[in-house]
Amino acid sequence: MDVIIGRDDAEVGAYAAAKVAKVAHAVQQAGKNLVLGVATGSSPLATYAALAEWVRAGKLDLSQASVFALDEYVGLPEGHPESYREVIRRTVAEPLGIRPDRVHVPDGFAADLQRAARDYEQEIKDAGGVDVQLLGIGSNGHIGFNEPTSSLSSRTRIKTLTPQTRRDNARFFESPEQVPQHCLTQGLGTIMDARHCVLLAAGAAKADAVKAVVEGPISAMCPGSVLQLHPKATVILDAAAASKLELAAYYQDMYANLPAWQRLDVLS
Ligand code: F6R
Repeated sequence: MDVIIGRDDAEVGAYAAAKVAKVAHAVQQAGKNLVLGVATGSSPLATYAALAEWVRAGKLDLSQASVFALDEYVGLPEGHPESYREVIRRTVAEPLGIRPDRVHVPDGFAADLQRAARDYEQEIKDAGGVDVQLLGIGSNGHIGFNEPTSSLSSRTRIKTLTPQTRRDNARFFESPEQVPQHCLTQGLGTIMDARHCVLLAAGAAKADAVKAVVEGPISAMCPGSVLQLHPKATVILDAAAASKLELAAYYQDMYANLPAWQRLDVLS
């Protein structure tokens, strides 16, 4: 696991965007189209902003890329502004110039949710798998909506959100009661199939979860800790989110002394 510590959220976004651009370049060099795994919530917004900037400046072309969302609420009416289908359209697809038919979100509106979950697994497979997956971390250690005690090898399925997650996400709704109780989420096994995983966290509220993901035991009680088993996982943090890491100085020293080809150049 590589740990990169930036100064602030904007620098976290710039590093993560550089990682996506690096993978996109390698995929394009191999004659393929990028398959980008995207998260919703606050953590990846600076990354999307940096990517959008490079797309606008002509430094990055994502017009042939497809995106796969991690999760979707169950129980919202179709077209609800906080449904992840809408959030991904606003924050990812439009600013990055991704064609609408290449935007994939689990179908949380389906009558048969189990079938929708199976279909989503198939859609990811049909696209050739995810090249690089962006992830946020819940204050309780979830990635996607894989809440504590999720199977470390789970696939896309229906999950019940914990009261903690519903409280954390209440800021997006008019009242906490409006946050749905259920969701469809990629499983931890699904996420682990991505060829690169990039976990982003900013702010002191994430420091305990980050410590558990990076330096704690691998445990279903902290689902994000499964990333310790991923061969290409990068964790990008701001100083506050990294503040509880025992080996923070080591990670900083290691990154500062990487050979140039391994670094993530923050494009300006
Ligand atoms: C969102 C998702 C969640 C969030 C996590 C952190 O698609 O899968 O795991 O990444 O809840 O949310 P923020 O970034 O809003 O703190």
